[in-house]
Amino acid sequence: MKSKILKMLRNADEFISGQSICDALNVSRTAVWKYINQLKTEGYEIEAVSNKGYHIVQYPDIVTKEEIESQLVLKESENIIKKVVFYDEVDSTNNVAKQAAEDGEESGTLFVTEHQTAGRGRRGKTWISPAGSEIFMTLLLRPEINPAAAPMLTIIAAMAVAYALNDIVKYISNPIVKNISKSGIPVECFIKWPNDIVMGNHKICGILTEMSAEPDWTNYVVIGIGINVNTEQFDDEVNGIATSIYRQTGVKVKRSTIIVHFIKHFSQMYTKFIETCDLSAFIEDYNTLLINCGRQVQIHENNCSYTALAQGIDKFGRLIVEKEDGQKTEIMAGEVSVRGLYGYV
Ligand code: BTN
Repeated sequence: MKSKILKMLRNADEFISGQSICDALNVSRTAVWKYINQLKTEGYEIEAVSNKGYHIVQYPDIVTKEEIESQLVLKESENIIKKVVFYDEVDSTNNVAKQAAEDGEESGTLFVTEHQTAGRGRRGKTWISPAGSEIFMTLLLRPEINPAAAPMLTIIAAMAVAYALNDIVKYISNPIVKNISKSGIPVECFIKWPNDIVMGNHKICGILTEMSAEPDWTNYVVIGIGINVNTEQFDDEVNGIATSIYRQTGVKVKRSTIIVHFIKHFSQMYTKFIETCDLSAFIEDYNTLLINCGRQVQIHENNCSYTALAQGIDKFGRLIVEKEDGQKTEIMAGEVSVRGLYGYV
């Protein structure tokens, strides 16, 4: 109900009367008043004028269920995200999502938090997760796909994040926005294979996908996404590699807007992916976002490392590289690490 009231307030051009909210949602005046007061305590600045009604003057930068749901414009049938669950603080949204999956939670649930006390990155690393400026969310899916296809969902998620961030960057008028695509859209966020999102050659988002599966059956997949949005300062250990939208553009943005754009792009791509269970429909678009494409990369595999030319992905998300002797090979995420010749990208 609170999401619906917030949506009505958000969509009203000017004031909206308490009575029209009551009539549209079939609730009492007291209930509307109670929800409006809750919204005020959460940071929404709401003007109330007698004989006119309510009007939101200012929105807080929060990532609650209501803040996200009230901005969704997708039809229910087109939206893969069936439910948003918000926590003020958790250890890790991936842990919460996995536990919920074990307890029978439905596919399409998005777990979001303001603060993680034990955020996890890939390869057992810690994901530093301070409150107030970043996005920490995990999507629980129960796709009817072979477990071997599940890692490709990480690629889809990475593309959806890159598109969401590029949508936002489009609205930020700043001289730093300088890469313009053929269609005239500024493109500032790229993907470092397989699924780090980079901006200004620094990492802005990381994705940790975990799953539970039988040999031929995927029980569930959780896709955990951490995005640095309004971060001003990073800890010393990541300062050289990490960046945020704010660090790159000097502009602070509402984190919920990025989540809503992510939901739109992910829903569209997931529906397409499920038709073939491979990335054939996405190769060209992914390679356009791929910062390594056409560049020399350093590949570290077991104890050896070699230099090769990255040529893009195949329909399974493997990176096609050409070695110095001209031989082409496909490399699998998880088995190797890829870096630029002179640093992170
Ligand atoms: C990486 O190492 O690049 C992956 C980082 C993934 C971080 C996100 S934040 C939300 C979710 N919860 C976690 O504990 N990790 C992921």
